[in-house]
Amino acid sequence: MSMSPSMALGAAAFVFAASAAWSAGISAPGAPERPLRSVASFEGIRNQAERSAALFTEAGKVIQSPRCLNCHPATRTPTQGDDMRQHVPLMVANDGNHGPKGLPCAACHGSDNARTFAAGIASVPGNAHWQLAPIEMAWQGLTLPQICAQLKDPRRNGSRSLDQIVTHMNTDHLVGWAWDPGEGRTKAPGTQKDFGALIEAWVKTGAHCPTA
Ligand code: HEC
Ligand code: HEC
Repeated sequence: MSMSPSMALGAAAFVFAASAAWSAGISAPGAPERPLRSVASFEGIRNQAERSAALFTEAGKVIQSPRCLNCHPATRTPTQGDDMRQHVPLMVANDGNHGPKGLPCAACHGSDNARTFAAGIASVPGNAHWQLAPIEMAWQGLTLPQICAQLKDPRRNGSRSLDQIVTHMNTDHLVGWAWDPGEGRTKAPGTQKDFGALIEAWVKTGAHCPTA
């Protein structure tokens, strides 16, 4: 397998190799550095509403991680990195969430994470469905209780039932990217499976939101 030629993209001149051989070897899945508490560890909370809220608070460690928040910003501009700085180059997603026609997300974000050889950026994150979350699903600037209420609101969650939210958290590929974010990026806590189990248990216990 040979490396595909490097490409310079736009004025920003990001140079990266799109070789599958490279990206395949990047992330060795091991035990998570920052584990999530198990669903079972919440059984001691007798009051079901309190247990439900506590499960959501634990899941919030993922929801409020930079890996999710960077794509669920309060404006039409994605953010980058663990410090959630403004995306460089400045990108403004259009209504379709894919950015302007001349420079869509896919011009730089491929179907997989890709190693770069540019100084300071170890990889360009990628996924076949890379796009910005629509504005009604903005999470940045919200408290966890506010995010919780929004997640349950069909007018702001893509008309999803709670069961569909569970499925989305458990199986969606953009969600899953947060645990395989490419070289140079911190993974979301736990695993997608652990996270999905917390969300599922949260729904089963009545989907109560934390108060703080
Ligand atoms: C690359 C950008 C991107 C990343 C990263 C991302 N999302 Fe999203 N998210 C989207 C888009 C786009 C939608 C809207 C798609 C749809 O409604 O089908 C969305 C919708 C959602 C929804 C359903 C609507 C809602 O807000 O209730 C949930 C839940 C969600 N994302 C959770 C997450 C979680 C949890 C993470 C991190 C583990 C995450 N997302 C990371 C782009 C992203
Ligand atoms: C000109 C190239 C380019 C375009 C176009 C582009 N991006 Fe990016 N994006 C990058 C690069 C390079 C990075 C990695 C930066 C880093 O890690 O420091 C990045 C990182 C990101 C991240 C941060 C991931 C994380 O958690 O750190 C998000 C979110 C993102 N882009 C969303 C988008 C969206 C949504 C679009 C389209 C509306 C888009 N980008 C268009 C080059 C681009």
